[in-house]
Amino acid sequence: MAAGGSSAGLWRSRLAAALLGLHLFSLAVTLEVSVGKNVVVMALNGSEVQLPCIFTTCIGFKDLEFTWYYNGIDMIYRGSIKNKATEPTMLFADPRVRLIGTTTRKENNISISMLVDFEDAGKYTCHVRNPKEKNAEHNATITLKVVQKMVPVDNTLTRIIVGTVGGIVGLLILILVVKKIVLLVLKKSQEKKKECLVSSSGIDNTENGLAGSKAEQKAPPKA
Ligand SMILES: *[C@@H]1O[C@H](CO)[C@@H](O)[C@H](O)[C@H]1NC(C)=O
Ligand SMILES: *[C@@H]1O[C@H](CO)[C@@H](O)[C@H](O)[C@H]1NC(C)=O
Ligand SMILES: *[C@@H]1O[C@H](CO)[C@@H](O)[C@H](O)[C@H]1NC(C)=O
Repeated sequence: MAAGGSSAGLWRSRLAAALLGLHLFSLAVTLEVSVGKNVVVMALNGSEVQLPCIFTTCIGFKDLEFTWYYNGIDMIYRGSIKNKATEPTMLFADPRVRLIGTTTRKENNISISMLVDFEDAGKYTCHVRNPKEKNAEHNATITLKVVQKMVPVDNTLTRIIVGTVGGIVGLLILILVVKKIVLLVLKKSQEKKKECLVSSSGIDNTENGLAGSKAEQKAPPKA
């Protein structure tokens, strides 16, 4: 009884391990598409912008098809790649779009370049389908922002803020330093005066401290 139970448990754990192994295997062969870390790209109105995209496959590819979409539906570029030893073949391209990537190097680069104006702001999706991986599909999206002028406005603002904060901090430090120096000088001169007073008048006012010496200082003009 006990032996049968433990053997069933063993089978269960073996099955679990096998399933986990299969799962890991399927994760490892999955097609991956990436647009890099910067998912937002800024471009000047009327300038040419690069939209990056690369893909990776673990078992390689054959007659792979890739498509760039604008806002998820409008096709702006489509190409196919026979295999790792060939460059992509263009199947469709918007007149303003050209492929700048290359697929015969280490990276499978399917980046595009595009002349943009304000209406082109939006989401650009790079989609890949690999027949060699049972038509596995993957995509990645990048957001394009089109601006009239490149950030100098923000830069100036940042510089003003940093400058102001820096200036204020600097001024505070300066004030503190000057205050310390002034206090030190005052203390020194008062100590000197005190010494002089003490030595000249012969009155012992050490117990009264500074107040006493101040009173002594002011005393002569009144008298
Ligand atoms: C944006 O760029 C286009 C093309 O260069 C130009 O025709 C248009 O006037 C520009 N728009 C603005 C608001 O500057
Ligand atoms: C991108 O992938 C997601 C999740 O798999 C899917 O829902 C979406 O339709 C895909 N987008 C495009 C443009 O293929
Ligand atoms: C892809 O190709 C473009 C154009 O040559 C290049 O600027 C970019 O750095 C490449 N990206 C990667 C990840 O290699």
